[in-house]
Amino acid sequence: MTTAQHTAPDFEHPLHEPIIRARNVSVQFKPNRRTTIRAVTDVSIDVTPRSTIGLIGESGSGKSTLARALLGLVPVSSGSVEWEGQDISRLSRSDMRRFRSTAQMVFQDPHSSLDPRRRILASVTEPLNVLSIGEKSERADRVEQILTRVGLTMDQAQRYPHQLSGGQKQRACIARALVVGPQILVCDESVAALDVVLQAEILNLLSDLQDQLDLALVFISHDLSVVAHISDRMHVMYLGETVEEGSTEQVTEHPQHAYTEKLLASQLTVHSPRGAGRQSRGSHDVTDTHEEERS
Ligand SMILES: Nc1ncnc2c1ncn2[C@@H]1O[C@H](COP(=O)(O)OP(=O)(O)O)[C@@H](O)[C@H]1O
Ligand SMILES: [Mg+2]
Repeated sequence: MTTAQHTAPDFEHPLHEPIIRARNVSVQFKPNRRTTIRAVTDVSIDVTPRSTIGLIGESGSGKSTLARALLGLVPVSSGSVEWEGQDISRLSRSDMRRFRSTAQMVFQDPHSSLDPRRRILASVTEPLNVLSIGEKSERADRVEQILTRVGLTMDQAQRYPHQLSGGQKQRACIARALVVGPQILVCDESVAALDVVLQAEILNLLSDLQDQLDLALVFISHDLSVVAHISDRMHVMYLGETVEEGSTEQVTEHPQHAYTEKLLASQLTVHSPRGAGRQSRGSHDVTDTHEEERS
């Protein structure tokens, strides 16, 4: 096996130079003429190589929308998201394909992320076909290699999603995201649907993959203990805004904002950032606190 696919990206980033640089990003939805939903307001964030950023906040605080904006999956209303010095909303088709292979996303529910009528092998191969990466034989090698890395056998890859456990399905989703050789993996509530033991297993897998593949992770969760477990830095979001940003230690040990304190008090048994084995499940009820503005 080789690791060629994950080395020598087209564009070498110095360690502290962000791969994605988002500045003053706002995203608004207008479901009808009289309603404006301010999902994200004025958020700036840098995704630097090999870092782990945690996005924390209750349901409706704009985490998923921000993640989608970072990946160009939803247009920004103001502000900018830059990659290789270019605004991602203005990328050519071929640059957009390269960007798609640079930054990938893993979602919460592995079941709905995989096509139930396709074998895992086909689902994991699909992104290579869509992004025109590699020749046919090369694609098969890459798929086999990434399946091994996420801990799935070729026998399991021949199955349909319903024939795998929840943890195996999430491994398949991670393989599907990593097969294109990204530098950034955005995990949106990727362990929320799993039980505590599987959560720990998948978090450990993500940490190992990060080290092996030099990935930057953007890790989104409403569960502070999960985010603190894996992140170097955290952004605390509330009603679409970043209310606090800093190292995991700063944010969990010396919260500056009342909302962070509230989150900590309601969820936590966090003692040390990146500590091992903590699994408090403080998943308090997730009420949608978002304001809708009617004008
Ligand atoms: N496609 C959409 N159309 C309209 N409103 C949306 C859309 N996506 C998200 N929202 C709204 O934007 C706000 C932020 O949502 P989201 O980013 O999903 O938050 P989170 O991921 O933190 O739960 C919520 O009020 C949500 O209802
Ligand atoms: Mg979300």
